[in-house]
Amino acid sequence: MTSTTSATVTTATHPDAAATITPARIVWQPDDQGSLVPVSGEFGDVYFSQVDGLAESRYVFIEHNHLPARLQALGARQSFTVAEIGFGTGLNVLALWQLWRALRSEHTHLKDAQLHIITTEKYPLMLSDLTQILRMWQTRAPELGAMINALLAAYPPLLAGCHRLNFAADNLTLDIWLGDAQESLARLVKPNFGGVDAWFLDGFAPSCNEDLWATAIFAAMQRLSSPTATAATFSCAGVVKRGLKEHGFSIKKVKGFGRKREMLTAWRDASETDATTQAAPILPYRHVAVIGAGVSGLMAAYTLAARGVQVTLIDKQAPLAGASGNPRALLAPKMTPLAHAAEHLHTVSYLYSGRFYRQLDAGLQTANHVDPIVTPTGTMDLLTKANITADQACAYPSDVATVLETEEAAAQTRLSASTVQPHVYLPNAALINPQALAHSVLSHPNITYRTAMVETLDETTDGVHLQVKDAESNAKADTIKADAAIVCSAYESHQLAPQLFACRQIRGQLSWFTPNAKQQDNLPTLPLKYGGYCAPFVATASDAALNPVRSGQQQFLLGASFVRNDTDTTIRVDEHQHNRDKLISAIPELDEVLPNDVHDWQARVGIRAQTPDYHPLVGPVADTARIWTLCGMGSKGYAFAPLCAQILVDMMAGRIPPVSQRLLDSLSPTRPRLQRPLTADK
Ligand SMILES: Cc1cc2nc3c(=O)[nH]c(=O)nc-3n(C[C@H](O)[C@H](O)[C@H](O)COP(=O)(O)OP(=O)(O)OC[C@H]3O[C@@H](n4cnc5c(N)ncnc54)[C@H](O)[C@@H]3O)c2cc1C
Ligand SMILES: C[S@@+](CC[C@H](N)C(=O)[O-])C[C@H]1O[C@@H](n2cnc3c(N)ncnc32)[C@H](O)[C@@H]1O
Repeated sequence: MTSTTSATVTTATHPDAAATITPARIVWQPDDQGSLVPVSGEFGDVYFSQVDGLAESRYVFIEHNHLPARLQALGARQSFTVAEIGFGTGLNVLALWQLWRALRSEHTHLKDAQLHIITTEKYPLMLSDLTQILRMWQTRAPELGAMINALLAAYPPLLAGCHRLNFAADNLTLDIWLGDAQESLARLVKPNFGGVDAWFLDGFAPSCNEDLWATAIFAAMQRLSSPTATAATFSCAGVVKRGLKEHGFSIKKVKGFGRKREMLTAWRDASETDATTQAAPILPYRHVAVIGAGVSGLMAAYTLAARGVQVTLIDKQAPLAGASGNPRALLAPKMTPLAHAAEHLHTVSYLYSGRFYRQLDAGLQTANHVDPIVTPTGTMDLLTKANITADQACAYPSDVATVLETEEAAAQTRLSASTVQPHVYLPNAALINPQALAHSVLSHPNITYRTAMVETLDETTDGVHLQVKDAESNAKADTIKADAAIVCSAYESHQLAPQLFACRQIRGQLSWFTPNAKQQDNLPTLPLKYGGYCAPFVATASDAALNPVRSGQQQFLLGASFVRNDTDTTIRVDEHQHNRDKLISAIPELDEVLPNDVHDWQARVGIRAQTPDYHPLVGPVADTARIWTLCGMGSKGYAFAPLCAQILVDMMAGRIPPVSQRLLDSLSPTRPRLQRPLTADK
């Protein structure tokens, strides 16, 4: 019986066809025991046996990589990496996740240990198919229930590239690389220490799925493996045995699962010792000082804290005192044609940060949580200053970007049909509440916040020393010692670490006003992008601590000005006017709706730290061993910082980051583009 088949996300004739992902075509067929099982329409092979697929998963991949013992042997801040070829229905991942959960609940010493799973998939299941299959497993194996729900809730859009899913309560990171496994593995970056500790080789049978057993796969395994890596697979085909042996693995045939005669286990030739006694890489710092409590510092602190590191987060003024303290930030990407999306920092950051903020909200539902971090709004990009046409946007999965019917777009925005043509609608764009984000980050038990000016930052052989002055008692100098430091001080970062590129300082003023009832009825109902951006929002009680807004009142924000080499933060009426003019020049019909007099508008001014290539600085500071940076976020800190913090902490921890070497190089604080000083106008 064929119950669920799926169409490709885009047509094969589209110019971006090469970058599109074709979802799996699922066909349901009886297995040799008469149970209906999902079969791949592409390969004609089963994903698993319904009767004992889970037991087989546990036997072949988990037991024969010795994972119960190896995971149990982990210590604080150690991270174990499993890589899987062929994510399919996620059953192997769920089985491993459940083991990890059980081990962590039994063994308190695993509290700060981490599990990192990297998996690859060329034909990902559509969410509806995955839901149908996993609900079936939920009935058969209720112990997987919580994990199935979490996986389905976080399942990414079917877009090529790496999708990082964090399950913070379980210290689990799952990187799903969509696209051909050979290409994905070629993109994985081998860290300076560590690597893949265990491989699950779970392609379809070599006879029908040659690509997953090709030399390039085994060569990638050799490149990416840690010295004590192991591998397991159900297949004993000659091509598998040869591939492993020729790429640095010793192999052994063992009894297969159930009625199957044999299967294969393998281990790196380099490791004479038993894999169970070998150490996975460790994040080598117990205590890290993070300088600057804007969104960069908050994300660096949170990411470290979530991996068991004690963090002292320091700001000379207050959390969110700098550019990050607007009442709301818009989370919406600068779109690029689909062919570039997987390597496009805006796109991959947007996808990650949207998921990250929502997960943070979900995890905080029961805690002492003031306001939601994310207000889901969707956004319409009127393509006034865009790199993409409406036609190109249609190549994206519709849950990422789409084009609405003109009447619907007009109704959604309350604008006329001619104004909303052309447009791109981003259904998952959102407004972020910085105060709510800071509140939840600062409540992490591993983070201690302190208001102090860091005057100097020095490295010693075994740590870093920060000379700080308390903000209030200006005279009192003090030293903070830590194992490492991360400089997140935006445009002031190079004052603490002179090796860092001196970013351009760009003043920006965001304006807002309280609309009267008539204006409220006629203003756009969702955020709009038009070169600048505007958005309605309702102020909450906690907003008032940062900005002059009235709790419970509808507000309308618009921005932002862009003044180079200006670090003055006084509010200027002419920049209110500039923000108004910018909106009116893009959407003339709003001239009648917006107040003419801008004198009583409110505003906040921040200084953006901008690099010449618009990418932030993420990584080690040159000529230091313990000083790192996360800064230079320009106009996109709320999109960039969550993913860039993951990348940074992966570098510190010897873990494989969720981006390719090319993207990583484009974030390097020492990249060639930064060697040329800024000219006056660029
Ligand atoms: C008007 C405007 C609108 C914007 N809108 C958006 C938007 O909608 N979406 C979006 O994603 N981005 C937006 N941005 C960009 C975003 O705000 C920035 O990219 C982001 O805030 C940068 O964060 P940061 O933490 O790197 O820097 P900051 O937030 O500036 O934080 C740096 C911190 O370092 C502290 N510091 C500096 N030196 C020291 C020292 N020596 N000791 C201790 N502390 C120190 C400062 O006090 C400050 O708090 C906007 C920016 C502006 C100006
Ligand atoms: C046996 S299934 C994997 C089952 C899966 N591990 C699970 O737990 O459900 C093999 C998977 O490999 C995927 N695949 C086949 N060729 C691929 C390729 N070239 N690159 C990446 N994935 C591929 C298939 O789409 C399929 O999902």
